Amino acid sequence: MCGIVGCVGEKQARNYLISGLHRLEYRGYDSAGIVTIGTDNKATLLRAKGKVSKLEELVSSIRRTAKPSTDKIGIGHTRWATHGEPSEKNAHPHKAGDIYLVHNGIIENYKELKAEIKNHKFITDTDTEVLAALIDSLYDQNTTLADAVNQALKLVAGTYGIAVISVRNPDEIVVARSGSPLIIGVGDNETYIASDASALIGFTDKAIYLNDGEMAICRGDSVELRDLSAQPISAKVETIEIDMQAIQKQGYEHFLLKEICEQPSTLRSTLSGRINVKDKVANLGGLNLTPAELRKIEHVVIVGCGTAYYAGLLGMYYLEQLVDDLTIDVVAASELRYRSFHLPKDTVALVISQSGETADTLACLREIKRRGIKTLGVVNVVGSTIAREVDGGVYVHAGPEISVASTKAFTSQVAALTIFGIQLAQAKGADLQSVSKYIEELAKLPDEIDKIVSKDKEKIAKIAKRYAKYEHALYFGRDTLYPVAMEGALKLKEISYIQAEGYAAGELKHGPIALIDDSFFEVALLIDNWLFDKSLSTLEEVNARGGHIFVITNSKKAIKAEEIIRINTKLDILAPVLINVVQQLFAYYVAVARGNDVDQPRNLAKSVTVE
Ligand code: F6R
Repeated sequence: MCGIVGCVGEKQARNYLISGLHRLEYRGYDSAGIVTIGTDNKATLLRAKGKVSKLEELVSSIRRTAKPSTDKIGIGHTRWATHGEPSEKNAHPHKAGDIYLVHNGIIENYKELKAEIKNHKFITDTDTEVLAALIDSLYDQNTTLADAVNQALKLVAGTYGIAVISVRNPDEIVVARSGSPLIIGVGDNETYIASDASALIGFTDKAIYLNDGEMAICRGDSVELRDLSAQPISAKVETIEIDMQAIQKQGYEHFLLKEICEQPSTLRSTLSGRINVKDKVANLGGLNLTPAELRKIEHVVIVGCGTAYYAGLLGMYYLEQLVDDLTIDVVAASELRYRSFHLPKDTVALVISQSGETADTLACLREIKRRGIKTLGVVNVVGSTIAREVDGGVYVHAGPEISVASTKAFTSQVAALTIFGIQLAQAKGADLQSVSKYIEELAKLPDEIDKIVSKDKEKIAKIAKRYAKYEHALYFGRDTLYPVAMEGALKLKEISYIQAEGYAAGELKHGPIALIDDSFFEVALLIDNWLFDKSLSTLEEVNARGGHIFVITNSKKAIKAEEIIRINTKLDILAPVLINVVQQLFAYYVAVARGNDVDQPRNLAKSVTVE
């Protein structure tokens, strides 16, 4: 949530700042800004409401009129508003005296701090301006910029990732983090700052990931790491393994469509080296659990938010089918963190997150760890905070997910959970035969998804046009299709803004069926299994009340509905994942038909690093 960039060294800082902000725009897009200090030691602050392209226009117009000066240092920000409406005034960087500051996170005690600061005239509604003013008030002749930042942070309650520069010290960017990611890119006589590694691609592949409670003084040719009591820390330089292709649209109209369509290959990466069809075994290497420890697991708690939570719910069904004597809870992280929950001793927690930075999920992870429970991550972004704080786990290797709505991560998360279930079942003595069908279906899943994304797009787009005019939708499914229905409704609402609800099919008659009228359409999910006839009865009940039903199914049997997509697949257990891919495409085409900004839907941002 929000993106931070910074650059100090020999090259034109602005080029990196604008390029980096474009890459980070998916983290927030209601305003953007940069400040640079030139070789003349003058600061230029540019901010614009709206997307980074607006800021870029401003930068170009200044370039045309101003005398050229090399920007040796600069910081920038793309914002997702928390305190204060989206406006140019509230956009970062914020200025106080000689200080310029960009900030991700929330300063919780900003009102108390503001009341104490006397020498600054506040002009914005933001918590960030208070932090800038606080640092400025501590930045006197006897203090270095780093010391002033350090002292200010000791007074702050809340979360932050910050980058600070000053015209009085124009060769250093001071950065710090607590709860909001910050990465330092190490280049040749050039040091970069980013809140997300994708901004660094093409500039450097060497990075230092800052931990909570750490700060750094970044110069063009050096990086000095400290903790908040000013003790030096040695820096670990890691290699970023993301290639440029992965963060480009590659000919697709939107990142969302690209990410839906690349699922065959991203899923192959998830599965690679982890399942063996011939030997009927599955193994996630990074769990850090011995077979004896695996055998002892009696309870699993799964936490995540949004799509990750729904992936966890679907994973629960597979874990239950695979492992006898296992109890499972799946809880939305935003709920669990404040509950007085109790976990039995032999519990393992699975923490699911695409970004690895979601504030609620991270808070749950820390609380669960504090109780002495072993935590395993199911994470996509390599090096992210959750990935670094769990006791073990698995990277799903779905590659960068740029579009705000999560799609390919869901598929990979469900696959990883299924592999975990197989591994757990085998550790507990399940015979090879009982798990072999799961392994075979996992192995076939990428090709089965490929059939949908390469053959069914046009048909789905046509159906989507028919339903794009509605304002309400009800998704329903039974058993494994219940979480899939909720995920389908989430995808539709977040990118098309159609009010959509996902429901357990068997629950419709307990209330929601009252909603059905001509202003609604329904998406009915059915698999040809032992529950098919029951699902069909629910569908008939909706038909009988004049429903406008769109069915997604793998069945060839007769079904009465306005529109049907029949998936041609032999998969049975994992057919819900295929049904979800159809739903993803459906939501995409509905949003396109409604003329929406599919990759950056209103009010949202990728990676929710605030509560
Ligand atoms: C939905 C979506 C969100 C995320 C949720 C968790 O399309 O993108 O619901 O799934 O914010 O994010 P991660 O997985 O990064 O923890």
